[in-house]
Amino acid sequence: MTRWPEGVGGLCYGGDYNPEQWPRDVWLQDVRLMREAGVNLVTVGVFSWAWLEPEDGRFEFDWLDDVLDLLHGHGIRVDLATATAAPPPWFSRRHPESLPVDFQGRTLWPGSRQTFCPSSAAYRAGAVRLAESLAKRYAGHPALAMWHAHNEYGCHNGHCFCDASAEAFRAWLRRRYGDLDALNQAWGTAFWSQRYGDWDEVDPPRPAPTFVNPTKQLDWWRFSSNELLECFRAEREALARHTPSIPITTNLMAARFKTLDYWSWAPELDLIANDHYLIGEDPDGHIDLALAGDLCRSLAGGQPWLLMEHSTSAVNWQPRNLAKLPGQMRRNSLAHVARGADGVLFFQWRQSRAGSEKFHSAMVPHAGTRTKVWREVVSLGGELRRIAEVKGSRVDAEVALLWDWEAWWAVELDSHPSADLSYLELVRDHHAALWRRGVTADLAHPSADLERYRLVLAPSLYLVSDAAAANLRGFVEAGGSLLVQFFSGIVDQHDQVRLGGYPGAFRELLGIRVEELFPLPAGGRVRLDDGSTGSLWSELVHADGAEVLARYADGPVAGGPAVTRNGSAWYVSTRLAPADLGRLLARVCDHAGVAPVCGSAPPPGVEAVRRRDPGQGGRASWLFAINHGDEPAALEASGLELLTGAEVAGRLALPAGAVAIVREDGA
Ligand code: GLA
Repeated sequence: MTRWPEGVGGLCYGGDYNPEQWPRDVWLQDVRLMREAGVNLVTVGVFSWAWLEPEDGRFEFDWLDDVLDLLHGHGIRVDLATATAAPPPWFSRRHPESLPVDFQGRTLWPGSRQTFCPSSAAYRAGAVRLAESLAKRYAGHPALAMWHAHNEYGCHNGHCFCDASAEAFRAWLRRRYGDLDALNQAWGTAFWSQRYGDWDEVDPPRPAPTFVNPTKQLDWWRFSSNELLECFRAEREALARHTPSIPITTNLMAARFKTLDYWSWAPELDLIANDHYLIGEDPDGHIDLALAGDLCRSLAGGQPWLLMEHSTSAVNWQPRNLAKLPGQMRRNSLAHVARGADGVLFFQWRQSRAGSEKFHSAMVPHAGTRTKVWREVVSLGGELRRIAEVKGSRVDAEVALLWDWEAWWAVELDSHPSADLSYLELVRDHHAALWRRGVTADLAHPSADLERYRLVLAPSLYLVSDAAAANLRGFVEAGGSLLVQFFSGIVDQHDQVRLGGYPGAFRELLGIRVEELFPLPAGGRVRLDDGSTGSLWSELVHADGAEVLARYADGPVAGGPAVTRNGSAWYVSTRLAPADLGRLLARVCDHAGVAPVCGSAPPPGVEAVRRRDPGQGGRASWLFAINHGDEPAALEASGLELLTGAEVAGRLALPAGAVAIVREDGA
């Protein structure tokens, strides 16, 4: 159940505040400017370990007392970080065994951040001691609204291959399998003489002459996600001991981050908080943003979530860091709100003068306040106040797009039919097609309760447990529509193939049998007899009860079925080109009774999402319409446009780059 930062009225607005980088006179300017911008929540102390504990066991809180008092005096609430994401140099020197070791066996040295092994006992003890000291010190401080444990767990040190990690991996495996026979069975160690006779023989998947046992690799991903979750749990327990009423969260990196299984993390957080950065050169960056927003909302179980970080303009870590064009930051921010965020925060408040992130944009740029960025920051603060009534409302979605970190890890393991398969790309294909149609989707775990959806899409769900397969079968039997993409249902949770023809878990449901996989050569294309084009993949499919909707017109399986339908279970055996997938999904949506948000597909580049207030029997609703394109557009809508206060009667005009948020009439 979501717990919101204590005492923040309206939507949250603010960013990471790193006052230790600045002299005190700048702090005074900061709080004045924060008020001017309407900031009500800042994340303080994310990288302050060296300032809070300059020597082992010697804590210095006076400066932080002053910062918190100052913020409180100006009515700004604090998301207080535990500062554990960057152990200081003294710590690494004192505990050299806590340094992380990469896949190649190289030690990663201090002088950056996240230089620790997640399984290191010294690190965990040091982190908990710091978190606990902060909790004791600031329990009851009136500025404290929320705890921000660590920062972006696993961002740089998701997998550590040191000996302590090896020991922890073995302990985790013992708990998972109980005995070595079960492990040998699960890992299929009869292959290549890999049978283990003693737990001490089991190491992390370190470099080997050739492919390492795939189930071992898969378990390593599972272990690593859990190991960092243990780090979070340890901090959380320390914090909750002293401040049980203060919510605790950490910032996730959905949807691009592969390392952590956020489905297992989500129930442990009081609030889903996310960091999202546009890839500046991606022309569909706004659709990637929408996917992240949809995933966060889904991780939050449909409840509001918090955008903890994004950027006012350029970042510093891409090959070319493109500045945002006028209006783009506003569109990005409000697009997150459209998808369920009840707050918009940035990295960071004031642009650093030194360090690796000095060219990363911020709310207060190097050039000061006579800037596009500052004007947009102030203006956004005003707009968030104007639309505060959307707080707590939910987003309508009738479609679930399956998303599973375990399936992601497994489908991208080595020694597979094609190295070109990217799970994220395939999920994106489907999400983008829905986005363009104006259909909002939740993301869902394959075992989740799917009852509220009309349609479920399963992009390359390679690994599926028996329970998840039964869940999807039950969904279709209960009247739901399901679309499954190639290379799905292939293996069980141990990465062992389901025999008798692919897709083992879904053969009967789909009414097909795949005899052999025919991935395409790099850049290869196949044509279908309905005019569609496929890439990446093809399969020798036999219809076994299913109707054939399209056949391969050329390529290695010419003449064979490419797209099939068995009642309301659809199968697609290639990667359709975007327009072709769009057409197919439009047909599948129509069949499933899923209509676009505005009745018909919005004009190109226009995003349309509806939020609804669950509290009034769902009667109050808001239509968010964002024109990301260069052409003026219009949508059907009626009501009060909140940003301008204009009445909209039937037709909502959306100039290029515009955003409108309409409180709808007559719902
Ligand atoms: C992440 C981190 C921040 C900062 C930004 C830069 O989100 O949490 O500390 O490094 O990236 O984009």
